[in-house]
Amino acid sequence: MKMIDIIAAKKSGNAHAQEEINFLIRGMLDGSIADYQISAWLMAVCLKGMNFEESYMLTDAMAYSGDVIDLSSLGSHIVDKHSTGGVGDKTTLILTPLLAAAGVPVAKLSGRGLGFTGGTIDKLESIPGLRTSLSNDEFINQVKNIGAAIASQTANLVPADKKLYELRDVTCTVDSISLIAASVVSKKFAAGANTIILDVKFGSGAFMKTLEEAEELSVTMAEIGKRAGKPVVCVITSMEQPLGNAIGNGIEVFESIQTLNNEGPEDLTELCLYLGALSLLKAGKVKDIEKGKEILREKLIDGSALEKFKQMIIAQGGNIEYIENPEKLIDTKFAFELTAESSGYVNKLDALTVAKASKALGTGREKKEDTIDYTAGILLNKKTGDKINKGDLLAKIYSNSIESGHNSREILSHAYQISSDKPEKPELIIKVVESA
Ligand code: URA
Repeated sequence: MKMIDIIAAKKSGNAHAQEEINFLIRGMLDGSIADYQISAWLMAVCLKGMNFEESYMLTDAMAYSGDVIDLSSLGSHIVDKHSTGGVGDKTTLILTPLLAAAGVPVAKLSGRGLGFTGGTIDKLESIPGLRTSLSNDEFINQVKNIGAAIASQTANLVPADKKLYELRDVTCTVDSISLIAASVVSKKFAAGANTIILDVKFGSGAFMKTLEEAEELSVTMAEIGKRAGKPVVCVITSMEQPLGNAIGNGIEVFESIQTLNNEGPEDLTELCLYLGALSLLKAGKVKDIEKGKEILREKLIDGSALEKFKQMIIAQGGNIEYIENPEKLIDTKFAFELTAESSGYVNKLDALTVAKASKALGTGREKKEDTIDYTAGILLNKKTGDKINKGDLLAKIYSNSIESGHNSREILSHAYQISSDKPEKPELIIKVVESA
């Protein structure tokens, strides 16, 4: 078999066989196929696409290219919830203890962020002392003991994705539905769950900018799951404005604690209850979503979800004082306020611009080696649809530098669009896509 023939086949729009895909992934990892040939193939895939069967075969070859976590000792229904990423998305921090409190164990592998804010692991590491680098045994034992663990991905999980992503990043081949689907789902397969719930976000602050793109990606991922015999359920949600009110790292943990205490923002609480109820349904614990939501709401009210979060933080070495006194998580040197210059309604709150305002505070990183500011962040006081009077507080900015605080406030002022007409309240959960 020759790589040049595989490139030629895709360039002509032909479908690959499993042996060709296996050959390509193996050769890429052992160095026998050069990066320039893989890059040419990636471009051919971007231009000609792949059918569902090929997308599945690529996902499978990638998933088993490195370590695979065995979660079978935790039970027969292991659910993993994953988000394609968005501004203020802290659902993993809430859902993990919430589901554990409802008797569904969650073993969650998450990543660090490259971009505007940190990833789930960065957010957790804003709690001093907390360890996310757990050995496989530590990880599984913690889930057995308390029902919940969030750890960082080991270096050898899906090495094929790391290599392909590096090449996609520099060859303008990131935006292929098949390649994105294979990248996301292969990591979920390797992480050991047998039911996968994906929160597929679309809009200004998301990877997918339109609902149509999110639908196409969701259908592809659901079809991959069907072929693998592991259900993949996609929930398409809007990311036109940030989720919840907090954007940053420690500040998102702060808001997660409020939400676990049943005092969180409505949109964030609604999404967590929905995704959690769907997980209970897929794990066979409830008959319908409404019952699932009811059970989970009770766990927020009676304090057991927050208690589970505390147990998880203690088990991973985090300083519990920061959970008991969450203001410590946003203890910056300076705070700035953005106030309304006119009265009316918030017509639009652009998620991407809010993300940029957060980045100006040092909450994200450009390169892997960059350090991030754990305490800085933004707390939104008004969101789309809210009525405002001139002078009202729109948002508070927590910063450790005067210059970046001013800079962030200037950027954030462009995120708000004020109108005199009352806009419709934006819908958050749009639809669920799963294969028949
Ligand atoms: N997220 C991933 O994990 N992979 C992609 O290719 C895009 C987004």
